[in-house]
Amino acid sequence: MRYCYHYPNMAKIKVLLVGYGYWGPNLARNLNDNSQIEFSGILEIDKDLHKKISEDYPGIPIFSDIDEINDGHDAAIVSTPATTHFSIGRSLLEKELHVLVEKPLATSVDECEKLIKIAKDKNLKLMVGHTYLYNSSVIKIKEIINSGEIGNLLTIHSERLNLGQIRQDINVMWNLAPHDFSIISYLVGSYPKSITASGNDFIKKGMHDIVYVHLGFENNVTGFIHNSWLHPLKSRKVIVVGSEGMIVFDDTKLDNQIVVYEKGVDWDKITKSQKGKNSRFEIIDGDYYSPKIEAQEPLSTEIQAFIDWIKLDKQPISDSMNGLEIVKILEKAQKDLEI
Ligand SMILES: NC(=O)c1ccc[n+]([C@@H]2O[C@H](COP(=O)([O-])OP(=O)(O)OC[C@H]3O[C@@H](n4cnc5c(N)ncnc54)[C@H](O)[C@@H]3O)[C@@H](O)[C@H]2O)c1
Repeated sequence: MRYCYHYPNMAKIKVLLVGYGYWGPNLARNLNDNSQIEFSGILEIDKDLHKKISEDYPGIPIFSDIDEINDGHDAAIVSTPATTHFSIGRSLLEKELHVLVEKPLATSVDECEKLIKIAKDKNLKLMVGHTYLYNSSVIKIKEIINSGEIGNLLTIHSERLNLGQIRQDINVMWNLAPHDFSIISYLVGSYPKSITASGNDFIKKGMHDIVYVHLGFENNVTGFIHNSWLHPLKSRKVIVVGSEGMIVFDDTKLDNQIVVYEKGVDWDKITKSQKGKNSRFEIIDGDYYSPKIEAQEPLSTEIQAFIDWIKLDKQPISDSMNGLEIVKILEKAQKDLEI
């Protein structure tokens, strides 16, 4: 066991996991591996999954209804479909548990505000799983932008494309864009002032499977998001364009996920050369490199941030206000999709 000299209170935090579908097992593995956590149980309504749970974690308490859970838990992590986040989150907070809800925090601004109020009234921590804010590559990109290496930030493009997995409960934007919105807002350092969206609902009427969102920030910085469940190839890319350099983050790659390019336009020459109609703006096509990124699992860092908040009162980046701001963007974009 690691010696945690900085924790005045050495008691382990007892954490319950809610939902053991596709994503839940990843959370379970990280809960089980964290020496400051006692993995105190799994709540899963689908009884067909209980055999798998007891095979994966022999002896762990399993619950199939939220009313069954006992008082042997300090906190809970919710990994159920987005449309259930509000009701499950509210019940857990009412049971006096600190709560980390997978993205999105809830499916409306009103629901988020209600959860935030309960957490505040009860002095409980409420966090959202914007996992990419704990991703070493995203943190590195932020450092590069802040260092001034790529000049002024101009625009960020973020795409999450694949054939499926097609959900029935929420559209592609509510499913994937919480990642893109949280990454772009973090890299820009503010939330967007303007949001416009368009898309298609080819597979199921009213349930968008392709979405394009434009974000407008202070200082003319823009963001562009493309999410699709109808794309032949899997793509998870963030492309940052600055006045003196560009960064490409490809999350499907195992190594060299970030490449920094000395690419751009020679702005000095633009202003100096007001030549005839056949003149061209000069471009810079310089060197490129791939910075070293410390390998660590973002989910493990995210869970540690939750524990640090409970134990040390250290505010995480994806607190409930961050969750609310991202749902505000989703709600505004959704209104545009419905026009
Ligand atoms: N951070 C990430 O990168 C990431 C990746 C994938 C999914 N997610 C999020 O994780 C959450 C779960 O997604 P998923 O793909 O695992 O969904 P899923 O449908 O595969 O699994 C959800 C599980 O929750 C269970 N469940 C539903 N209602 C419940 C209830 N009331 N009580 C207990 N269990 C209940 C279901 O039986 C199911 O096993 C979603 O919010 C999703 O957005 C996050």
